[in-house]
Amino acid sequence: MSKVLYIVANPSTEEASYSLSIGRAFLNAYKSNNPMDEIIELDLYKMAIPLIDTDVLNAWELLRSHASFDSLSAIQQEKLESIHALTDQFVAADKYIVISPLWNLSIPPMLKAYIDTVVIADKTFMYTANGPEGLLKGKKGIHIQARGGTYSGDKSFLEFGDSYLRTIMSFLGIDMMESIIAEGMAYSPEKAAEIKLAAVHLSQSAAKEMASA
Ligand SMILES: Cc1cc2nc3c(=O)[nH]c(=O)nc-3n(C[C@H](O)[C@H](O)[C@H](O)COP(=O)(O)O)c2cc1C
Repeated sequence: MSKVLYIVANPSTEEASYSLSIGRAFLNAYKSNNPMDEIIELDLYKMAIPLIDTDVLNAWELLRSHASFDSLSAIQQEKLESIHALTDQFVAADKYIVISPLWNLSIPPMLKAYIDTVVIADKTFMYTANGPEGLLKGKKGIHIQARGGTYSGDKSFLEFGDSYLRTIMSFLGIDMMESIIAEGMAYSPEKAAEIKLAAVHLSQSAAKEMASA
C-alpha cells in the first residue's frame, strides 16, 4: 500500500476551476485503479503553512550554533514544529499529485511556501562532494496545471510554474511523470470544454499508470 499526497494549491472551487476539476478526475481514476492506497489531501489555502521568516531563520541559526530546541522562543518552536511535521509527512509519502493554476507565470504563493517547508537539507536532499543529491529517489510525482494562455512550444521560456515545480521535485529525487496541462482556455473560450476534456482523458490514463507504479 502506498501513501499518496494530493496537494492542492488553488483557493478556487472544483466547480469553477479547471485544475481542481481535472485533478479530481485524476484522483477518482487513481482510486478506482488502486482502492487500497492511502490518500492524504492537503488544501494549502486552508492550512497555516509557516513562512520562512525572521523567527525561522533565527531559530535555524541558533540550532546551527548548538542552541537547544527548548531554548528557542515559543513562537520559534511552534513554527519549527509545524515545518518539521510537513517535512516528515512529505518524506513519508510515496507519490505526489500537485494541482495548481499558473499565476503570473509561476506557481501560487502558498505552493511556494509549502515547498519551502519540504525542501530541507538532510531530510529531502543532502549536500555531497559532487553537489546536492535528492533523498526521495524511487518516489513518483505528477503536476496538473491550468493556464489561461498557451505556453507550449516557442512560448515555453515564459512559463515558470510547471517548469519550476518539475525542477524542484526532481531536485529531491522524485521521478516526475509528464505533467497534465490544460492551457489556452482564456484565449479560446469556445475551445475550453474540449481542452478540459482532453486533459481529463490524459489524467485518467496517467492516474492508471501512477496507480500501478
Ligand atoms: C492571479 C492570477 C494570475 C494569472 N496569471 C496568468 C498568467 O501569468 N498566464 C496565464 O496564462 N494565465 C494566468 N491566469 C489565468 C489562469 O491561469 C487561468 O484562469 C487558469 O484557468 C486558472 O486555473 P484554474 O481554472 O484551475 O483556477 C492568472 C489568473 C489569476 C487569478
